[in-house]
Amino acid sequence: MALFELRQVSRTYHLGDLMVRALKEVSLAIEAGELLAFMGPSGSGKSTLCHLLGLLDNPTSGKLLLDGQDASELDEDGRAELRNRKIGFVFQNFSLVPVLTALENVQLPLLFRPGHESLARKRAAEALEAVGLTPCSRQRPSQLSGGQQQRVAIARALVTHAEVVIADEPTANLDSEAAESLMDLIQKLNAERKTTFLLATHDARLLRSIPRQISLHDGEVVSDQKGARS
Ligand SMILES: Nc1ncnc2c1ncn2[C@@H]1O[C@H](COP(=O)(O)OP(=O)(O)O)[C@@H](O)[C@H]1O
Ligand SMILES: [Mg+2]
Repeated sequence: MALFELRQVSRTYHLGDLMVRALKEVSLAIEAGELLAFMGPSGSGKSTLCHLLGLLDNPTSGKLLLDGQDASELDEDGRAELRNRKIGFVFQNFSLVPVLTALENVQLPLLFRPGHESLARKRAAEALEAVGLTPCSRQRPSQLSGGQQQRVAIARALVTHAEVVIADEPTANLDSEAAESLMDLIQKLNAERKTTFLLATHDARLLRSIPRQISLHDGEVVSDQKGARS
């Protein structure tokens, strides 16, 4: 069974009288453990697709299955529970809390769960170690480079032991060197931990390291290439 299955998924936004068809009958299967990128120009539907896959939004029509479970059959609480258990998010602006240290930022998703503070700290420390940032544990985001802040965001996505990390334009605010090093980290985490990574990017420089590339144009999948390392 695929991790995600999309069957003719469409998402339409209504802006007053205007109707924007952001996704048009997208059908896809994504297996656990994949590292893939949604490519395409601005406005092609990448973020809309990330929101649907992250259970942050519902299709207007069509079906989205996660582990065979039809997301539209869940109520809001059920979707939140599934999302919190399985999915981590990384955004282009890092979205770290400025007054918290790196370690505290990573710990945040665990504060909403029952459990022990010391266990949360231990898991946060492990996640920071996995992204190579143990020495920066006590620093605040403003004391870190953009690349380091994005690694903290990845650690925060992993701290819940999420099976899937969805990253929308994770390198958009990074210089080339930091972007490449972030992609190296994502490849390593994908290989070693088998975490599924779904990236949205229009940064063609990164594609070298991404084994499956799905191109979107005007809300439609125009190509889906596996084993496409170049
Ligand atoms: N919340 C929204 N309300 C109305 N239109 C939206 C909204 N979000 C996205 N869109 C429109 O949907 C289309 C796809 O947008 P988006 O998924 O953000 O693409 P991308 O991430 O590839 O730039 C665009 O035409 C965009 O203007
Ligand atoms: Mg976008």
